[in-house]
Amino acid sequence: MVFRPAPWLGSLLLVSLWGLSDSVSLLRRLREHIQQFQESSGLGLGLDPGAGALPKEGWLEQPLDPFNASDRRSFLQRYWVNDQHWAGQDGPVFLHLGGEGSLWPGSVMRGHPAALAPVLGALVVGLEHRFYGLSVPAGGLDMAQLCYLSSRHALADVASARLALARLFNVSSSSPWICFGGSYAGSLAAWARLKFPHLIFASVASSAPVRAVLDFSEYNEVVSRSLTNTAIGGSPECRAVASAAFAEVERRLLSGPAALAELRAQLGACGPLGRVEDQAELLGVLQAVVGGAVQYDGQAGAPLSVRQLCGLLLAEPTNHSRLAPYHGLRRAAQIVMHSLGQRCLSFSRAETVAQLRNTEPSVSGVGDRQWLYQTCTEFGFYVTCEDPGCPFSQIPALPSQLDLCEQVFGLSASSIVRAVAQTNSYYGGQILEATQVLFVNGDTDPWHVLSVTQALGPSESALLIPSASHCLDMAPERPSDSPSLRLGRQKIFQQLQTWLRLAKENQVKDGI
Ligand SMILES: *[C@@H]1O[C@H](CO)[C@@H](O)[C@H](O)[C@H]1NC(C)=O
Ligand SMILES: *[C@@H]1O[C@H](CO)[C@@H](O)[C@H](O)[C@H]1NC(C)=O
Ligand SMILES: *[C@@H]1O[C@H](CO)[C@@H](O)[C@H](O)[C@H]1NC(C)=O
Repeated sequence: MVFRPAPWLGSLLLVSLWGLSDSVSLLRRLREHIQQFQESSGLGLGLDPGAGALPKEGWLEQPLDPFNASDRRSFLQRYWVNDQHWAGQDGPVFLHLGGEGSLWPGSVMRGHPAALAPVLGALVVGLEHRFYGLSVPAGGLDMAQLCYLSSRHALADVASARLALARLFNVSSSSPWICFGGSYAGSLAAWARLKFPHLIFASVASSAPVRAVLDFSEYNEVVSRSLTNTAIGGSPECRAVASAAFAEVERRLLSGPAALAELRAQLGACGPLGRVEDQAELLGVLQAVVGGAVQYDGQAGAPLSVRQLCGLLLAEPTNHSRLAPYHGLRRAAQIVMHSLGQRCLSFSRAETVAQLRNTEPSVSGVGDRQWLYQTCTEFGFYVTCEDPGCPFSQIPALPSQLDLCEQVFGLSASSIVRAVAQTNSYYGGQILEATQVLFVNGDTDPWHVLSVTQALGPSESALLIPSASHCLDMAPERPSDSPSLRLGRQKIFQQLQTWLRLAKENQVKDGI
């Protein structure tokens, strides 16, 4: 059979199902990998397993529907406690909120907020998010259950957990409770203070995308900018060769079966790449390899930093081959694939849809189905690359993302548009009217553009850490940390001291 380059393929790609679900799940797997790495390496844990210092696990019975008092159904929500440093009943409580994944015992043992506990005498509690990890209600993940999954439900859990834990640990009513969280959980931390100021004294929100957005094209704008950032090993050349590498992949996708077969072998694809939607999925996964290097740059356990990625893409200066960037990208994909323990890279849209339709919590692994549901019903956050400035393949991702909500949950595109608007009007987007919230972001993190990076008032402050990636401020300290990251952590510490002083003054005023 003679394959003739099909002129229609280009336009078909434009209207095809453009699956980012796999790229989203690749990013989620990267995050999980980094967490597990840090968990198992005991990085900065200072923890002697024999000394009874391990965090305690507990369970809270929570109403499945906190907004209907007639509904008596409940589920068990997991939490972790570290009381090693607690100054006692009047001491502060740091409530570390979990987000869209399992919450590990390390959440109360190392990194922020745990690292602040010894000096500030805090009780550290980690609360897993409903429907993730082991806090999945009985009955699985079908639509009748998923209607109880939203940030609003999660916040109701925070409020009732705050009250229940205070009773359980006999925390004085004047003790300040301070919420912490990173990424989506960072938004929850800010919103917990916004909605329950009588229960939560203050919040530190790290890399919190508080503005919901359907078409998150800004993600790749930041990725592009970060690839040129010399402070983290990027350069204008690096961005240019990244673009060239994607152009080469696209060229090969259009060059007939032999080129496709070679591409499949070179990228380590699990299956053939003949279907247009699978080819789009492939480009999405490759974008996630680059996006992941930026988002998790410099983090312990991340398979690829920006410096390493740029090193691969630019190859040896002596190798001036036109194909060098392509081979660099290919090696980058292999490095990520191997570090995630995958034998091959899956680019099958059909497989993605089948996995996301599975309602067994154990099968859904790190919570891909649940998080897709939350993006379809609350946040959007669909990463696209349609602007001329986007360095990767410019293929519309949005229609395919919206299709995924329809295929997996039967949710229409118009309902998603409305849901995103409702989320922003419910919380206030980036002009969130709260007090005593500190927003922390890194300026190379693609998510910072949806967060608060400038103070919104005297008691709502913002910290933008130069050359820091996603949630890096929360990671355990390392000797390789940049001076700006150290300074950022110092400022967080100072803010907490100020808040705790304020809480003390209030206690005195109230005559406690
Ligand atoms: C509240 O829960 C009760 C008992 O399960 C149920 O009959 C009722 O329909 C629920 N109301 C709403 C508004 O969901
Ligand atoms: C709780 O704290 C109060 C003092 O604030 C103390 O009198 C009481 O014994 C404590 N209860 C428990 C169970 O620790
Ligand atoms: C140099 O580029 C060629 C592509 O023509 C590639 O096959 C080869 O692996 C590259 N060499 C190195 C050392 O990267």
